[in-house]
Amino acid sequence: MLNATAREKSTPEDRGLRLVDDVSVRGAKNREKFGDIIGHSGKMQEIFTLVEKVADSDSTVIINGESGTGKGLIARAIHKNSDRKDNPFITINCGAIPENLLESELFGHVRGAFTGATSSKPGKFELANKGTIFLDEIGDMSANLQVKILRVLEEREFEQVGGSKTIKADARVIAATHRDLEKLVREGAFREDLFYRINVIPVEIPPLRERKSDILPLIAHFLKEFNLRNGKDVHGVTNDAMTVIKGHAWPGNVRELKNMVERLVVLKGEGDIDPLDLPEKLRRESGHSALPSMEISEDGINLNTAVTEFEKALILESLQKTNWVKNQAAKLLRLNRTTLVEKIKRHHLQPS
Ligand SMILES: Nc1ncnc2c1ncn2[C@@H]1O[C@H](COP(=O)(O)OP(=O)(O)OP(=O)(O)O)[C@@H](O)[C@H]1O
Ligand SMILES: [Mg+2]
Repeated sequence: MLNATAREKSTPEDRGLRLVDDVSVRGAKNREKFGDIIGHSGKMQEIFTLVEKVADSDSTVIINGESGTGKGLIARAIHKNSDRKDNPFITINCGAIPENLLESELFGHVRGAFTGATSSKPGKFELANKGTIFLDEIGDMSANLQVKILRVLEEREFEQVGGSKTIKADARVIAATHRDLEKLVREGAFREDLFYRINVIPVEIPPLRERKSDILPLIAHFLKEFNLRNGKDVHGVTNDAMTVIKGHAWPGNVRELKNMVERLVVLKGEGDIDPLDLPEKLRRESGHSALPSMEISEDGINLNTAVTEFEKALILESLQKTNWVKNQAAKLLRLNRTTLVEKIKRHHLQPS
């Protein structure tokens, strides 16, 4: 239950708020080496250690993890911690580019190689020379290109599309996928030889629901970022809201959390995030009643705050009941439509 008295206690800790600046986001060592990657959990700390160990080698790394877990960030961190850091880091999303274009994107093409190839163009492998090439969503690559990638990895050379000159490849390869490559191999959709060739150093990024101790530092980090970007001042999250947040499975992982924090900062603007600010879906999952507690604790209650919370909760409930048809919601509450609209604005309510 939302505790309407929570805000009235003396210190931030008593109130259950985690103020943005109170959260020490990472140790100094991590901050220096891993920039904006937040990871308090043992699992993320293990990944940081692994990244440091593998950064300086040229071995191929494959990063596995659900969508939104931070695979892109880790790939870049490996590059940034390596001897290649002053040379390019080139990303190519193998899933997003049509197959016929992907080959020329990767290896470049000579003039006249195909209709529209009016001049020669270097590919990503050349652009990443002495640096790192990040093959994102490698599980989505066609069988034809899988052969070509295998050859670059084994022989460290390739030809441009339409070209005959052999070019040396000196790019460290990092690959990533949200798909289960071993399963794809079993199904015949991914070459077994390529799988073994890239599976030299696997890095498994666990989903957010398996490292819940990262959630609070991530929220603090994103609050800072979005407050700054939008000129807002949202301080923290109440304990009750944190309980709801921790109860969610976060299928979209860190990306989903980041987007939620951005929305909350923009809509709320200031103060602390409480359960009623959270998307309805999260509250419903947690079984969190929309109505605040009526209890008066030993410390007493701030009547004004409690009444405001009640008003907000009842308005929200009426809106949810009527699918946000304001005329109907106003009727349920025996209010004018204009009064209801004003109150919706004042409470920063919006359909989730
Ligand atoms: N540990 C983290 N600390 C700070 N920000 C993070 C962290 N993990 C992910 N993010 C942020 O979440 C978003 C998603 O991360 P990223 O794009 O790296 O995920 P991904 O695993 O590559 O996802 P996809 O498979 O969908 O490409 C990005 O905006 C990224 O900056
Ligand atoms: Mg990515």
